[in-house]
Formats: sequence, structure tokens, C-alpha cells
Amino acid sequence: MKHSIGIIGIGNIGSSILNGLLNSDNIHPSQLHIHTRNISNLSCWETYSVNIISDKKLLFEKCSIIIIAVKPYQLKDLLKEINNYINIDKHIIISAVSGINIEDYFLYINNKTPLFRIMPNTAADVGSSVTCLSYNKNKKVNEVKDLLLNLGEIIEIEESLMNAATVLGACGIAFVFRFIRAMVQGGIQIGFDSKTAEKVVQQVLIGAVNLLRENASHPEQEIDKVTTPKGCTIVGLNEMEHQGFSSSLIKGIEMSYKSLS
Ligand SMILES: NC(=O)c1ccc[n+]([C@@H]2O[C@H](COP(=O)([O-])OP(=O)(O)OC[C@H]3O[C@@H](n4cnc5c(N)ncnc54)[C@H](OP(=O)(O)O)[C@@H]3O)[C@@H](O)[C@H]2O)c1
Repeated sequence: MKHSIGIIGIGNIGSSILNGLLNSDNIHPSQLHIHTRNISNLSCWETYSVNIISDKKLLFEKCSIIIIAVKPYQLKDLLKEINNYINIDKHIIISAVSGINIEDYFLYINNKTPLFRIMPNTAADVGSSVTCLSYNKNKKVNEVKDLLLNLGEIIEIEESLMNAATVLGACGIAFVFRFIRAMVQGGIQIGFDSKTAEKVVQQVLIGAVNLLRENASHPEQEIDKVTTPKGCTIVGLNEMEHQGFSSSLIKGIEMSYKSLS
């Protein structure tokens, strides 16, 4: 990777992206530059040999790719601040900020700027994010994809689906963690210690995903293989549905989506 990369905002997702890039074989830590307003919070990254930059002008001088990971309400002021530093021939801007459309960026920065919206999740930390991607018309797509592959899988989507990607991909990891926690609690109730329960549940999850991927099958096909007539699986599943399992997941996803508008 020939680019120097700057990250503005090293909070939850900024630090996951940073960790993902630090673990990459084709990026050297010296290519990574990090910036927040309060740089004293960044001292923990000194040991990784990344560059801690206190000044946005310097960040744009040193870097050709700038990743923005600030809260949506912080974006407008940031764009006003960096507008003068963006060189449309040199810089590529990648924003992880949710809920702000590409056309709204161009109220504050040049509309010829190569601009990419991404929606990763915190599994970027270990190179296992699903990163949804949309962008304005520009020629830098392959360079950006090369970079994002270090964080995990990339899925190109229409920008109109970005809020849906926020819910299913970014919030989704929390939904899955809650599911895992509930499975572990159930496991403890029926006799496992928590460590063993967690091991079992984690591998069940990995196995389920691998089955769907390698068999290219539908979840219901795989469920049919496990549900013996009158057996314990169907009894458990039906009880979960009586208690509103699928319905509460779907409703939660819907409410999460509605909260973004
Ligand atoms: N959390 C997730 O899992 C996730 C996943 C996908 C996308 N996102 C999106 O990513 C964005 C960041 O979320 P987060 O949870 O990582 O937020 P966060 O933890 O609050 O981090 C925000 C970071 O931005 C910095 N910052 C704010 N304004 C700045 C400015 N003007 N100049 C430089 N740095 C600035 C803050 O540090 P200072 O205050 O010191 O400047 C902080 O390091 C949000 O828009 C969110 O929707 C989050």
C-alpha cells in the first residue's frame, strides 16, 4: 500500500480500524497517522510506532487517505475545519460517520473530492468486519478497497441502504453478542460452567456460519436437519418462537432503523 493513512477520531470505531490496519501485512505502522482534538488520549498508541499528529493541516500534508471516525454531530465543524486542507488530486476521504449523506458533505467540501462512506463494525479490530461501502463517482475505488480489505469483507451497496447497513452490520454485532450471552446464560442454567458454555456457544456460532457458507444453504434447511419429530430441538425452537424470539429480533432491528431517521 503506497498511501499514508490518517485517521481523525480514535474512539470506538476509529481504534478498531487502527488495530485492523496495524495487523495488516501490507501497511507499515509508520504509514499510519492518528489525530483527535485531545491527543493526550492517544499516548497508549505510542508503543505501536504510529504517528500521533496534533495538527489537522499537518495530517493532510502527510497523508493521502483520510479516514473520518467522529460522531455525526461533530462532522459539520470538522468538515469546515478541514475544507482548506483538502487537495482533490491528492486526497481520498473515507468516512465511517453514520446518517450523513454524501451530498451533505459537499455543502462544506469540494464536490470533486473522492468521497467514500463506509459502515464497518468493531470486528475491524481483528480483520473480521463486514464493511458496507458507497461512494461518489471517482476513480479511487480500487485503492480504497485494497485498504478496506485489511478490515475484513467489503460489500458495495447503494447509498440509500447505508442506514440499513448501520443497523444490520454495525449495531448487528451487538445484537449477536447479546444472543451469545443469552445462550451462555442458558448453558449455565442447565449445568455448564460459564467458560465451557462460552466455548461451546462460540464454536456453535462458527460452525453455523461455516455450514451456511460452505453448503450455500438457507438457515431453515439446516434447521430441518436438526429437528427430529417430537425431538428436543423442535421443542426448544417452538418455545422460543412462542416467547417471540424471531419477532423480537425483527422488531429490534426495525426500531433501531427507525431511530436513525
Ligand atoms: N462504534 C461503532 O461500532 C461504529 C461502527 C460503525 C460506524 N460508527 C460511526 O463512527 C463514528 C464514531 O463513532 P465512535 O463510537 O467511534 O465515537 P467516539 O468513540 O465518540 O469517537 C469519536 C472520536 O472523534 C474524535 N473527534 C471528535 N471531533 C473531532 C474533531 N473535530 N477533530 C478531531 N477529532 C475529533 C474524538 O476525540 P476528541 O474529543 O479528543 O477530539 C473521539 O476520539 C460515528 O459517526 C458512528 O456512527 C461507529
